[in-house]
Amino acid sequence: MIYLNGAFMPIAEAKIPVLDRGFIFGDGVYEVVPVYSGRPFRLGEHLRRFQNSMDTIRIVNPRSDAEWTRLTLEIIDRNGGGDLQVYYHVTRGVAAKRDHAFPPGIAPTVFMMANPLVTPSAELVQNGAAAVSAVDIRWLRCDIKAISLLANCMMKQYAVDHDAAEVVMFRDGFLTEGSASNIFVVKGGVLLAPPKDRLILPGITYDVVIELAKANGMPLEVRRVAEAEVRAADELWITSSTKEVLAAATLDGKAVGSGKPGPLFHNMHGWYQAFKTAVMRAPAA
Ligand code: PDD
Repeated sequence: MIYLNGAFMPIAEAKIPVLDRGFIFGDGVYEVVPVYSGRPFRLGEHLRRFQNSMDTIRIVNPRSDAEWTRLTLEIIDRNGGGDLQVYYHVTRGVAAKRDHAFPPGIAPTVFMMANPLVTPSAELVQNGAAAVSAVDIRWLRCDIKAISLLANCMMKQYAVDHDAAEVVMFRDGFLTEGSASNIFVVKGGVLLAPPKDRLILPGITYDVVIELAKANGMPLEVRRVAEAEVRAADELWITSSTKEVLAAATLDGKAVGSGKPGPLFHNMHGWYQAFKTAVMRAPAA
């Protein structure tokens, strides 16, 4: 069952008008929240980022945080609980005609769905993934979680065409992020993370990884990372709500470090799994 504009229904019955600004212009924002054992992970943080995305593009949030939370629990329940990814999508709404400027006074379109959460297999975690690199061809507001994802789709297809799991993107000689993930680098025992500026999405998983690095005393530098540093990295990590923390074993067909997920990755992966389990088993807030 999906949720559309106030009602739950089978996805086959869900319909939107063709003049929806999401369909015509990609004029909307979205979120993806991982759910473990029926409980949303870091929902408050995801809702805050959703609010920021809406504020930035001047869509008035059509639901309160309490309503989003209630809808989240209901869609989890209606989809059998367990491990899911809940998708939230708000567009500016349905316009009377195609006109680029924001039409005043229209109601946003609200869509939610829940699909199985498929995290990387134990084999992929052990052996690492293949990554390829590309120039970041996206716009300059990658901090907005916008539904207009054409460049990200082209990038992910580039990865698929090269039998890779993800693309590592560079802009002006510096690391930005992946097509649907953040990227971390390890060099000389130090974890390097690009700063949360307008050129990357401020990842919720990125925040968890940084918190865990600090809590466990892993040396960390949040700063711009040069392309040459990425190419000479000991370890390269891919993070997202669905990939969690995954090591890249190769970049453009060349081994990253030893060509196997490194020791810092194994530490972080362990901390992440333990943290997730601890949070999900904690009493409901
Ligand atoms: N993508 N950067 C980009 C461009 C992303 O699309 C994502 C997530 C991330 C990681 O953010 P988080 O840790 O909050 O999931 C970084 C989601 C999963 C998606 O589009 O499906």
